Amino acid sequence: MLGKQFLHGGDYNPEQWDETIWIEDMRLAKLANVNTMTIGIFSWSMLELTEGEYNWGWMDRIFELLNENGMNAILATPSAAQPRWMSEKYPEVLRVEHNRVRQEHKVRVNYCLSSPIYRQKCREMSRLLAERYGKNPALVLWHVSNEYHEDCHCDLCQQAFREWVQERYKTLDNLNERWGTAFWSHRYSDWSEIRSPQPWPAGEWSMMSLGVAWKRFNSELTVDFFNNEAKVLREVTPNIPLTSNIHTWDVNWRVLTDAVDIVSYDSYPRFQVDDGDYERSLHASFKYDYMRALKRQPFILMENNPSSPPGTKLRRPGYHITKTMQAVSAGSDSVLYFQWRNGKTSNEMFHGAVVNHDGRGDTRAFKEVAKVGSMLQDLESICGTNIDPDVAVIYDEENHWGIEFSTMARWDGRSYMNQVHSHYRAFWNRGIAVDVIPSVKDFSHYKVLVAPVLYMFLPGVAERIEEFVKNGGTFVTTFWSGYVDEDNHAISGGAPGYMSKVLGIRSEELDACANEIDFKGHTWKTEHFADVIHAEGAEVISTFKKEYYKGSPAITCNSFGDGKAYYMSSSHCEEFMNVFYGDIIKEAGVDTLYSEPLPKGVTCRERGGKLFVMNFAPEERIVKLPNGETTTIDAGQTLIL
Ligand code: GAL
Repeated sequence: MLGKQFLHGGDYNPEQWDETIWIEDMRLAKLANVNTMTIGIFSWSMLELTEGEYNWGWMDRIFELLNENGMNAILATPSAAQPRWMSEKYPEVLRVEHNRVRQEHKVRVNYCLSSPIYRQKCREMSRLLAERYGKNPALVLWHVSNEYHEDCHCDLCQQAFREWVQERYKTLDNLNERWGTAFWSHRYSDWSEIRSPQPWPAGEWSMMSLGVAWKRFNSELTVDFFNNEAKVLREVTPNIPLTSNIHTWDVNWRVLTDAVDIVSYDSYPRFQVDDGDYERSLHASFKYDYMRALKRQPFILMENNPSSPPGTKLRRPGYHITKTMQAVSAGSDSVLYFQWRNGKTSNEMFHGAVVNHDGRGDTRAFKEVAKVGSMLQDLESICGTNIDPDVAVIYDEENHWGIEFSTMARWDGRSYMNQVHSHYRAFWNRGIAVDVIPSVKDFSHYKVLVAPVLYMFLPGVAERIEEFVKNGGTFVTTFWSGYVDEDNHAISGGAPGYMSKVLGIRSEELDACANEIDFKGHTWKTEHFADVIHAEGAEVISTFKKEYYKGSPAITCNSFGDGKAYYMSSSHCEEFMNVFYGDIIKEAGVDTLYSEPLPKGVTCRERGGKLFVMNFAPEERIVKLPNGETTTIDAGQTLIL
């Protein structure tokens, strides 16, 4: 089923209603061209009423109804929210905050990732679900848990962290050396002294290596927690693929990539609340490109909002279609919503759903959902097709942590993500597909590799960059790159560290200050940073115009092997980036329908031979199509050719 037909539907929590509503939901689902329901995500306390007292009746009946109506089921394991009885009976399943205080039973995602009891309960529940529904013809996908995020600081997690550190660093001498514990008298004399960091000012926030290590440990622990259930599901239902929906960015998702069969993502861009849609759509696109690139295969859009909650500005007609087609054009094989029917009560009862509390199938939002469903049927030929870009932009979570933990680096509001977006934007403006990849991924597929602010070198990355350029690739990097190793230790010899040779430059000092540069006969203002560098073999193609370092290189290009390596000493405005990357695109022979940027707010994507042209600007835009014709696209609308 997956890859042959787009999944269209979403989270369904039927345990709140009786069968009359379930039957009505099946009727409405057909009207909405919906073919999939995701069930059981937070259902543990309704499936196991007290320890060992099971209540399958309602879920059995939902499966029957889904089958009778030709629908697919995505079945979740309910481990994102343990039942209250479990928290009461086994308090160790509850999460401990960084202040070392154990939480009460509350909200959700409030479980300990290490607790042997919780893991055992999760395995038992996964087995029961798999044995009961694993052969059900409606079942197409496992949805393991929900949106992993945050950490637990209990004694069990502290012990697991200690073991992880010991396994990684082997000896205390090595650990002390790699973490630089001579500073401020932080030397460890016994493994038992290792504890999780805490934010400023409460606890240990000053050790840059510890901060990054704790994040790494938690990402791996999250995958281990996923595998705890996945192993059982794979054993009982080897033919049903597994996913886990990604949302927040505090886990390094790269480490989950190999564990899941399909990457899935929950996307909530809040279009139309103000005039920032252009920026929001770029951010959404960036994340879709990251999700697709993780496995270099189509992903699943597991959640998006089908309408608008009361009290927010309503999404104007057509925007829902553009928002969902954006994901499809970037490689999603689904459009799934949170949620099908608005809850009766509690936190998300007014969230925005396909079916509102009025229960009607003729609302504007419902009709747009139905329209998306019929468009997905028409687009069936592109379902399962991949996208194979010539360009990759590195966004690396570990690099991000490294920057965040470098307190003295005065990064302030100038976020790493903004820097990465400013490079990505030049491709987005031309409708050029980009793989957004972590630095440890294979670069050999690409003609152009862009690594903005590559502050931290993970092992082997610098060597692979060298190899990439030597083999004819075009590489672009920026100021504030090549400063630390994987443990957040400054690289001796200065920046850009192990990339000095490939770039043919040396950085002396970094001025956090705007400047001006000369480029192709024009003067351009720069933003935020000016890296005072020396060309050591690289050609200088632009220089600074102001300050004591006036005349020093602002942009350099080093020919290395068959390729070229560019260094940008500053961050730049959108117009400059459009011009700069226009040359790179031409020079590197990047495959593109548009060599010039599209009108502001308009982007396009090609997938499986279909061209999606989307206008995220607040007004209509006149767009020249690749066949030479000119057309007008209204604000928030999509044209599919
Ligand atoms: C998601 C979550 C859903 C629902 C939704 C509301 O992050 O997975 O269960 O809470 O947010 O927007």
